[in-house]
Amino acid sequence: MNTTTPEAPPAEAIKQPTVQTLDSLSPDLIAAIRRIPGHDQARAPQPLRVRRPASIFTDPAHFAREQRAIFRRHAVPVGVSAQLPEPNMVQAVKAYGLPLLLTRNATGELKVFLNACQHKGSMLVERCDAHKAGRFSCPYHAWTYSVDGKLVGVPRQESFADLDKAQHGLARLPAEEKGGLIWAMLDRHATPDFSKLDALVEDWESLNLPRLHLYGHKTFELDANWKLVIEPFLEGYHVQRLHAATVGPLFADVPTVSSVLGGDHVRQVSGKADFEPAQLDVPGASVHKTITITYLAFPNVSVITSPYYVSVMLIQPAAADRSVVQYYMLTRDRADNDKARELFARSYEMVLNVFGNEDFRAACISQAGLASGALDEMTYGGLEAQIPVFYEILERHLDSP
Ligand code: FES
Ligand SMILES: [Fe+2]
Repeated sequence: MNTTTPEAPPAEAIKQPTVQTLDSLSPDLIAAIRRIPGHDQARAPQPLRVRRPASIFTDPAHFAREQRAIFRRHAVPVGVSAQLPEPNMVQAVKAYGLPLLLTRNATGELKVFLNACQHKGSMLVERCDAHKAGRFSCPYHAWTYSVDGKLVGVPRQESFADLDKAQHGLARLPAEEKGGLIWAMLDRHATPDFSKLDALVEDWESLNLPRLHLYGHKTFELDANWKLVIEPFLEGYHVQRLHAATVGPLFADVPTVSSVLGGDHVRQVSGKADFEPAQLDVPGASVHKTITITYLAFPNVSVITSPYYVSVMLIQPAAADRSVVQYYMLTRDRADNDKARELFARSYEMVLNVFGNEDFRAACISQAGLASGALDEMTYGGLEAQIPVFYEILERHLDSP
């Protein structure tokens, strides 16, 4: 695991936190939030008896099929825009087992390259923090590249016959920044198609995701199938139980208002404990104090709102029984004063504890039980109704030619 938090800038005058009101959200999101019933009127869950074979979490052949049909064919998230907040920045990341280089050029354009020198493949950038750099040199023989991936310098170039630098630029993955996340096609020869993400953009723009600030990032390496890691972020059933000693009392044990955006992405909105619709109409009230908005963006991004920050998790498959989660805490305000620093530090500690020691742990203990062969099928009930919705989306992509 590694964890980073930016260095604290000098203290400034105390500022009030930025408040996001309901009317600043997208019309579709406002309409969904307006459908949340008050605590007393919350409907009972529809009883469900849905099953899925345990093998979808344990079978390496199923894992390989998901890799081919989903992760190598569709755009996947490789980072958040806030990682590279300024022009001429570079960050080396490992994503889906690949060494990548995320760069932002002088005009702000984001590009994703394989972090491999075109001379003999050496990893070009070894430090893993985001940093300012207009160009970077290979540690091996110092071939030098621009942030645009062009080969701009070769020591003793006269020793290479006919070396055309223009033919030796970095290998680039098709990539786009959308809704505050960085998306890439992992197969650089695949036909780029980022259009499925358009269904998220209006919501995520209205939540300000592209303009939030990166407060902290932590990598979790988990012994669990990627879908088991996703499951708790699709259902509220566990919240009163698994999180009984932490955040459980803050939430209601009722069904959420859910929508599928663009056929592929699951959105849920829910009121906090004792929610009443009238709370939405208090002038100037922060919508994020009374409402939680969560997304499971296809195929593997969880986005969850909180009063002062948004959690973004890229849940990357590593093997049938292993995943890597990149957790990012994005804040509405910069951590540039003591009050904000203290609030964010407390929130960061709390959220890493709840996700790390509760949700992720639940995924790992499920994986251990499933691996024993103790059950042939998983069973889902009415408070988990969005899990099969998500699996139907995955299955449609798995079956598409
Ligand atoms: S491997 Fe990069 S310069 Fe030789
Ligand atoms: Fe949870």
